[in-house]
Amino acid sequence: MSVSDLFKPLTLLHGPAMRNRFMLAPLTSQQSEYDGSASQFDQQWMEQLAQGGYGLVQTSAATVEAGGIAFERQLGIHSEAHLPGLMQMAKAVQQSGALAAVQLHHAGHRAQPSWGGIPAPASDRTVSNTAAISTEVVERIRNSFIAAAKRAQRAGFNGISVHGAFGWILSEFLSPQLNDRNDRYGGSAENRARFTLEVIEGIRKACGPDFQIGWRLSIERYGLRLEELRELTAEIFDKELIDYLDLALWDSAQLVRDGSHQGKTMLSVFSELPRKGVRLGVAGKIMSAQRAGELLDQGCDFVLIARAGILQRDFPLQVKANPRYQSPQLPVTADYLRQGDLSERFIETMRGWQTFVKPGS
Ligand SMILES: Cc1cc2nc3c(=O)[nH]c(=O)nc-3n(C[C@H](O)[C@H](O)[C@H](O)COP(=O)(O)O)c2cc1C
Repeated sequence: MSVSDLFKPLTLLHGPAMRNRFMLAPLTSQQSEYDGSASQFDQQWMEQLAQGGYGLVQTSAATVEAGGIAFERQLGIHSEAHLPGLMQMAKAVQQSGALAAVQLHHAGHRAQPSWGGIPAPASDRTVSNTAAISTEVVERIRNSFIAAAKRAQRAGFNGISVHGAFGWILSEFLSPQLNDRNDRYGGSAENRARFTLEVIEGIRKACGPDFQIGWRLSIERYGLRLEELRELTAEIFDKELIDYLDLALWDSAQLVRDGSHQGKTMLSVFSELPRKGVRLGVAGKIMSAQRAGELLDQGCDFVLIARAGILQRDFPLQVKANPRYQSPQLPVTADYLRQGDLSERFIETMRGWQTFVKPGS
């Protein structure tokens, strides 16, 4: 395959096709209003991305409940008051020919009280002086994910992506280390997966056959078990419960360090599963046209662009113009980001990411 294959359209099980194989990964820019409403900076960012040539643009992680917040100035989708801003975002993206999706997020035990978060651990042991959430609260949060998906649909988005990565609530419940419950959401691997499956199935039921459902999954840390996640993914693929899996690796070339898959790429453990009509994409250090093309050869249907998309808003167009395109070397100066029209707030967020912004610039 060549880099030009990245520009072939990709059909999804539900709703319209992606016009190419580039998906913008969710990127929390911490520039929303304090109540979670999209700010003028969020809108400008979406408008810039809309001109960037992506097949699908995901929003940053949006809170499905006010108490599920992890970051200052995080985007919200838990209130009707968020609708007008979300509508504007969806419209901007779609007018350019890309599909638009909201990433649905609840921080679980990592919710931040300083921003109004209410830690919601799966176990009594995770957060000191905080009891595990009750079965009723699990059901309430599940329903909040579903209500948020419905709201995204009303705002005009083509779909949502369920945040099941990085130890946030759904990932937390999958982990035998963080989830020692003895209700139907804990114990066996099947019970620990129930929260995720009920969210996905509930969204499909509420939002109907034209709505696109993505699922973001990470494998490392938080006590997650590769073999269990592989089996859950195999089931989700086999039942075609989602439109796409977004495999959230920090390096798309990451190797499995131990166990029966040791030495294989993490990606291959998932790409070799029969996936029927479900599409598979990966994130992690995709910083050049060549790397993006290689990942199609390695079994991906699409690629997720994150940091390279902050460095160059129109990464897909750059790749189209130059099959040897390389992202600028990190770190970059704050001025470089300013010239690319990144807001001061977003630049401030990026200063928190090691090796992204040159210190003192
Ligand atoms: C500034 C920043 C914000 C991010 N915000 C989110 C987020 O809201 N949701 C999420 O699932 N991942 C988030 N991520 C992770 C990225 O989506 C991506 O998986 C990761 O950066 C690896 O891809 P990359 O090497 O291309 O940057 C964020 C990453 C960065 C750099």
